[in-house]
Amino acid sequence: MIPPEIANDLGAGHAFVDLVEDYLEMARSREVPAPVPPAIADVIATFDEPPPARGRPLDEVLDDVRRRVLPNAMWTPDPMHMGHQLSVPLPAAIWAETIVAALNPSHAVAELSAATTVIERRIVRWLADYAGFGPDAGGTFAIGATECTFSGLAAARARALPHAWEQGVQGGEAVVFVSEHAHYSVARAVSLLGLGAANAIRVPSDERFAMDPAALERLLDAERRTVVAVVGTSGSTAVGAFDDLAAIGRICADRGIWLHVDGAHGASALFQIFCVNFHVAFGDDAHCLFSERILVNGEHFII
Ligand SMILES: Cc1ncc(COP(=O)(O)O)c(C=O)c1O
Repeated sequence: MIPPEIANDLGAGHAFVDLVEDYLEMARSREVPAPVPPAIADVIATFDEPPPARGRPLDEVLDDVRRRVLPNAMWTPDPMHMGHQLSVPLPAAIWAETIVAALNPSHAVAELSAATTVIERRIVRWLADYAGFGPDAGGTFAIGATECTFSGLAAARARALPHAWEQGVQGGEAVVFVSEHAHYSVARAVSLLGLGAANAIRVPSDERFAMDPAALERLLDAERRTVVAVVGTSGSTAVGAFDDLAAIGRICADRGIWLHVDGAHGASALFQIFCVNFHVAFGDDAHCLFSERILVNGEHFII
């Protein structure tokens, strides 16, 4: 624990800002080579220690962060960074986190977060307008795409199986059709919602690794169980394949089936009004025609 007289010193904030600035400069300049990620066993060994018996001076703690945390972190701002899909935070976004931490709002109850709850709703409204959704569109911010998919499919389950909330779901009662190359979080959401991961049925893909709409149609025609949703992917994890959302959307609309789109990678392009016209870039109008709900995941945007 940091001693209260130091922890309560607001001037200590400068030391944190200095550390972040040093990190960003190091990572961007390339004068310091980015650390080669060590084996996870070495990282575990690095942090394998008992809890501190007493508080330590803040500068010692920050030194420790420089010594042990930075070399074991992923240096996303490095110009040669090519690992995984995380975006590089803008400095303004980093500093904004300090305001959120200082305000510590709880969005569980509006009276505990009046301003930030209203701001969230306002931003969702703006995003829905940018996306071309109608006045009934709504949404929420989520911590990541896994939560987005879980929430979207929970809503789809409530629509298709209204009894599920109170009474649960019978095994094999319902299915979800999923892009063959969908992220594993989709099957997890299906499982966590009590539908059974085996009932997340993968639709074969075409030569572009996108869901084959004709195959989807055949599967739906043959299906006798309740179809909770079809999950399309707008930018798949491994190859960045985009499902034909216009075709899939029409198939779902004709049958009254909920279409959920995992847009972890591609959907944010809807909001890049300054640099791309998404509808032209991806050649479809599916988002505007068929989507009504939006869940925003800020972590992943990489286009
Ligand atoms: C297409 C897709 N969907 C969902 C996820 C899960 O995202 P998150 O880690 O934000 O929950 C990922 C992660 O890489 C992804 O690529």
